[in-house]
Amino acid sequence: MSFLELNVQRRKSQPSGSLKAAFKNLNNPATMVPFLFKVPREKDEQSKEAESNTSPKVSPPVSDIEIDELEGIGPATKEKLNNAGILTVTDLAVKSPSEVAEAIGSDLARAVELCGKARIKLVELHYLDDDFVPASEIYKKRKAIERISTGSKNLDDLLAGGIESQAVTEFYGEFGSGKTQICHTLCVMVQQPKEQGGLSGTVVYIDTENTFRPERIVGIAQARGYDPDPVLNGIIVAKAYNSSHQELILGELGARVREFRVRLVIVDSAVAHYRAEFLGRGTLSERQQRLNKFMHALVRTAEIYNLAVVATNQVQSSPDTFFGDPTKATGGHVVAHTSTYRVYVRKTGKNRVARMVDSPYHPEREALFVLDEKGIDDPPEESSSRRRVT
Ligand code: GTP
Ligand code: MG
Repeated sequence: MSFLELNVQRRKSQPSGSLKAAFKNLNNPATMVPFLFKVPREKDEQSKEAESNTSPKVSPPVSDIEIDELEGIGPATKEKLNNAGILTVTDLAVKSPSEVAEAIGSDLARAVELCGKARIKLVELHYLDDDFVPASEIYKKRKAIERISTGSKNLDDLLAGGIESQAVTEFYGEFGSGKTQICHTLCVMVQQPKEQGGLSGTVVYIDTENTFRPERIVGIAQARGYDPDPVLNGIIVAKAYNSSHQELILGELGARVREFRVRLVIVDSAVAHYRAEFLGRGTLSERQQRLNKFMHALVRTAEIYNLAVVATNQVQSSPDTFFGDPTKATGGHVVAHTSTYRVYVRKTGKNRVARMVDSPYHPEREALFVLDEKGIDDPPEESSSRRRVT
């Protein structure tokens, strides 16, 4: 069942007036899903069946244990947590204690205790790693990492096979460098079967700059020989109107991930709202704190749900007005330190160059790609496609 059908079904079962506005975009080719309401817990048989047919064998399973199965959570706490979108033990483990404290109106100590219990439960059930683990276990877990092709072989090579699950990959660069085009292409690629570079999964696109274009998705899908309709139905677009809304959307993500087999979350751009809202030196520390919290929530989401996260970030065109280094992304050290992989993209004539920056294991080198009807693609002459950084 497609997002569209599921949402229509939901609309029938939850015809509240406040939701009407949120659903007004349902006729759009790419579905705009309102994240700010409780999702019905039942899945219909058809979607369950579809899920079991397409589940990749190597993915670690995601826990679906209700939170009241944790010791110390009574009906009142359960209701408060549910109202904040925290439905399962996994949802609780993904949250930071301060978010949980706010949700249940408790002090931080109680929230830390609850988050700790959720973590322990997941460790006991082997959904999460213990705090102390042999390297062999980490190696085994890393072997379960899956990759999504970017659509460009050169860029895939740079990323050692594509965008990784369980990680946050940041693309940063100047305006027009191709960050949004990379995101659009990934929306198409992730839905393809493994043999074609995808994960047979769906994608959540958190659009903060109003630059998501369903027409572009149609064009990319057609150019790659895919039927555009199912591709559009496999993309949930969440428009974030400000930084708080962006944080709220991420908080509501857990239910969607389970329901729609989401394998990729895109935040384009992660930093734009923070940059626009927190102006001046005086607000820098609050901005960095909020951004830090957001980025850490992204990392936890990627790890716990075994999905890939892609975040974009713009480089300042007048660098001296902000951070001083033209190749430094606007999120400063916060985004840089939190992202697992960072790729700097820049224009060079008609081509684009991507450079892997500060990766723990990728060699530091560059790859050439182009923007064309396929979204992102390799340049026509393979001979000029790769070069080592000297
Ligand atoms: P900001 O969001 O402003 O920071 O830029 P960005 O890095 O996200 O740039 P984006 O990915 O939007 O790239 C814009 C460029 O993509 C344009 O300058 C075009 O060169 C190219 N582009 C966009 N749409 C198309 C298209 O339909 N066909 C082709 N061939 N190129 C396109
Ligand atoms: Mg963009």
